[in-house]
Amino acid sequence: MDGAAVEAAVSPERAVEAVREAFVAHARGEWSMPPKVYVTNYPAGDFRAMPALGGGHALLKWITSFPGNPARGLPTVTGIVLVSDAATGELQAVLDAASVTALRTGAAAVLAAETLGRPDAETAAVIGAGVNGTAAARTFLARGRAVALWDVDPARAAQVATELGCSVAPSRAEALAADLLVTVTPGHEVVLAEGGLRPGQHVSLMGADGPGKAEVAGAELARARLFCDDWEQASHGGELAHAVEEGLVAEDDVTAIGDVLAGTASGRTSEHEITMFDSTGLAIQDLAIAIAALDGVDGAGLPRLDL
Ligand SMILES: NC(=O)c1ccc[n+]([C@@H]2O[C@H](COP(=O)([O-])OP(=O)(O)OC[C@H]3O[C@@H](n4cnc5c(N)ncnc54)[C@H](O)[C@@H]3O)[C@@H](O)[C@H]2O)c1
Repeated sequence: MDGAAVEAAVSPERAVEAVREAFVAHARGEWSMPPKVYVTNYPAGDFRAMPALGGGHALLKWITSFPGNPARGLPTVTGIVLVSDAATGELQAVLDAASVTALRTGAAAVLAAETLGRPDAETAAVIGAGVNGTAAARTFLARGRAVALWDVDPARAAQVATELGCSVAPSRAEALAADLLVTVTPGHEVVLAEGGLRPGQHVSLMGADGPGKAEVAGAELARARLFCDDWEQASHGGELAHAVEEGLVAEDDVTAIGDVLAGTASGRTSEHEITMFDSTGLAIQDLAIAIAALDGVDGAGLPRLDL
């Protein structure tokens, strides 16, 4: 399935529900997933191999992140998703990985914001209007919430805002003050400085999904209640990895979002807490979108691959 076929088969609303179910199934031990493997070629970029098993299928995503590519007219993220029948091993589908990734990343960002944000949250903003920031903004809109965009490239923010029918934040500071904040930048520079967040805010940190990246200052982590998608991945290659290495954050300090969604751990406990969700991106999220795509597509019109 190419990107257009994946997007036609899975709406952002369906993606949120699929990702919610995947986080819960993983928390209950029904879906399994070894941590993703990074094959790095920095500073150019990296390759990631991401396997998962669940829902009667097995999946492998092979995907890149090459942040300098847009300057060369190439996409930052490319790759494929392979889906097999878990009972027979038979290969069932090959899907475009960038569209699967964008759907599940937007879904996770918004699901975390809805789960951990204050119930009376009003404003939402997305910092970084690239491929995955656009997906997060599209998902907020699909869930019926207005969203403002901010990007270091104002033309980029304006173009995406026009495409989606949302607003551009008047300033970086106003975007950063949103009740529900999503950051989806390359993670090479800190977006949230120490002391920058105010009590009650929620941030879904999506951009720093690999070694050496950070969107939030280390000291700001100490002001927040911390949540992650998966401790194994988040402690080794995400926003929290540096703090874990320095002994400032331990596993007990961080709650997996799947446990909150499954009802076995608490989420936000007061209107004053700052909540932070560190997303590293999970293969089970990809599996959820891939299954939804297979369910939602009319396979008759798709090209067949005879191996
Ligand atoms: N957590 C996850 O599941 C997940 C999934 C996909 C991608 N990512 C990560 O998200 C990041 C973005 O990916 P993408 O595919 O959207 O990239 P992209 O290149 O399409 O977009 C990045 C955007 O961020 C903007 N930007 C750069 N620095 C900024 C800053 N300091 N403040 C505001 N905007 C800034 C750029 O102008 C660009 O528009 C990457 O680091 C990628 O690895 C994470």
